[in-house]
Amino acid sequence: MEIIKTVKQMQQAAHAIRTGGESIALVPTMGFLHEGHLTLMRVGKEHCDRLIVSIFVNPTQFGPNEDLEAYPRDTEGDLRKAENVGVDLVFMPSAREMYPQGAQTSVVVKDLPRHLCGLSRPGHFDGVTTVVAKLFHMVNPHVAVFGQKDYQQLAVISRMVMDLDMDIQIIGVPTVRERDGLAMSSRNSYLSAEERQSALSLKKSLNLAERLFNEGERRAQAVKDFVQSYILEHPHTEIDYIALCDPVTLEDVNTLTEGTLVALAVRVGKTRLIDNARLRKQKKSKKQ
Ligand code: PAF
Repeated sequence: MEIIKTVKQMQQAAHAIRTGGESIALVPTMGFLHEGHLTLMRVGKEHCDRLIVSIFVNPTQFGPNEDLEAYPRDTEGDLRKAENVGVDLVFMPSAREMYPQGAQTSVVVKDLPRHLCGLSRPGHFDGVTTVVAKLFHMVNPHVAVFGQKDYQQLAVISRMVMDLDMDIQIIGVPTVRERDGLAMSSRNSYLSAEERQSALSLKKSLNLAERLFNEGERRAQAVKDFVQSYILEHPHTEIDYIALCDPVTLEDVNTLTEGTLVALAVRVGKTRLIDNARLRKQKKSKKQ
């Protein structure tokens, strides 16, 4: 597995792969790799000849009071895991390499960041789209793979790719969960044992929302209230948002339909967790 730290070398390596007639899949990450990331990598591998993973804790997507310094890092473990999955090349630039002194250009998607996480994390998605656009220029992938856990991120990046005519296929991969349902996240490592129990209320409340929908509830506010009281029954929880929204525009809806996005951000202790689900009608099981 090759490790590259400079933009120039990355661009040369990508050019050589393409000239050799091979396709490139990119999985952008901020490291501290877990099974969720490894699943993205396996999907990338299925789609292309060469798999490139970037590891870069991107400072521009962290707000002033967020966890940039404390963000978990484990370069040695990451490289071992990447190698085991069959990654061909890891690109791990420094912050200075990524953002040379005097950098003043950013990529901004206009409307989608004005919802959900964008409301409590101003500027976050500008940082994401800027770094992802830069990575796309450096790695020049045919395919890029992202997790659906970060639903809004996937929507914003897909919009950017469309709007800027980038010739890249974006693949969204369903959320990978722990056995008890907790969505995998590098930030789960911050949770105490008791907080981790409370964190299960996110996925359970999504299941409850789906159950209410299947029992015939169509009022978004009623489901929202129910989800809110369910989560708040659990210690250490504080709700950032509960949104029932259109899966494309991310605008709130009043009436639920099949496919409505239920998206949550909840602080459990000091850790902010997100999760989401699309409402589906369950098939009625036939009575024996
Ligand atoms: O999802 C992440 O880990 C980051 O937001 C990403 C896409 C790697 C950009 O820094």
